[in-house]
Amino acid sequence: MWESKVIMMNGELMPFEDARLHPLSLAVAYATTVFEGVRAYRSPESGEFAFFRLDEHIKRLQTGMKVMRFEQAYDVDFFTECLTRLVHANEPDSDVYIRLLVYIEGAGLMATTGPVGFTAAAMPRKKPKFAETGMSLGVSSWQRLSDNASPPRIKCTANYHNARLTMLQAKADGYDGALMLTPQGKVSEAPIACFFMVRDGKLITPDITSNILESITRDTIITRYKELTGLEVEERVVDRSELYFAEEAFLCGTGQEILPVTAIDRLPVGDGSVGPITEKMRQDYFNIVRGVSDVHPEWRTLI
Ligand SMILES: Cc1ncc(COP(=O)(O)O)c(C=O)c1O
Repeated sequence: MWESKVIMMNGELMPFEDARLHPLSLAVAYATTVFEGVRAYRSPESGEFAFFRLDEHIKRLQTGMKVMRFEQAYDVDFFTECLTRLVHANEPDSDVYIRLLVYIEGAGLMATTGPVGFTAAAMPRKKPKFAETGMSLGVSSWQRLSDNASPPRIKCTANYHNARLTMLQAKADGYDGALMLTPQGKVSEAPIACFFMVRDGKLITPDITSNILESITRDTIITRYKELTGLEVEERVVDRSELYFAEEAFLCGTGQEILPVTAIDRLPVGDGSVGPITEKMRQDYFNIVRGVSDVHPEWRTLI
């Protein structure tokens, strides 16, 4: 597998191991960082690489920077050009996972808003461990952050303290992953992915006011499910106990892609195997991101 050779800081390419940030930067001291995980998939036919839904990722990043009142803005074209240069410079021969982090790089006080800097890294990624077999989830006793405390729809690193505590608890308790509940006790999302379940043959996902990240993969599934079946995904409040009625479940996200969930709280989901709707959505997703299917060409930006 290829290796990351080159990283980009503030638009400049440099050897991967040379990237540096001062430990007193606000990014370290107060977690003043917003970020995106983006993928560039290689077409199995042409060998060409394409970013998947890059504009949407950059727009979410820009909104995060606005909410965090960063004093500098970057436009979509600028980041597209930077990430394109980054991918070329690394000469990958298989799919690429990109981290794009924007932060306050100077030292300062709590309300300091600049100077702003960014880092972009391109990395290979192994197929997630549970992609074929499915994974077990445990409902966490850590609550999901709420909108009025630290809004989960902003993809800022500070929010991942909550996610990490959840993940650590799940591992300690012997689960593959976790699901978080809102302070009202309703299903929210997993630490780094959104949640879908099938009940009575209908695809359901917690609505966007359930303290979730407004996931681009979630939107892809909602859009494609409608196009494939003519049915709407039910976006609604989900009770915890409904989890135990589910016939199928899966997680989704750029990094996780589509991960089947086969057990929750040590109870099997359905018959405990990967279900047909999960499989169908997963196949469809991979065909689209890799350009095997030509639907939604606007979602792919050729590199
Ligand atoms: C908390 C959280 N929810 C959901 C997602 C999925 O979001 P997306 O599909 O935009 O990658 C992620 C992944 O980045 C995440 O960190």
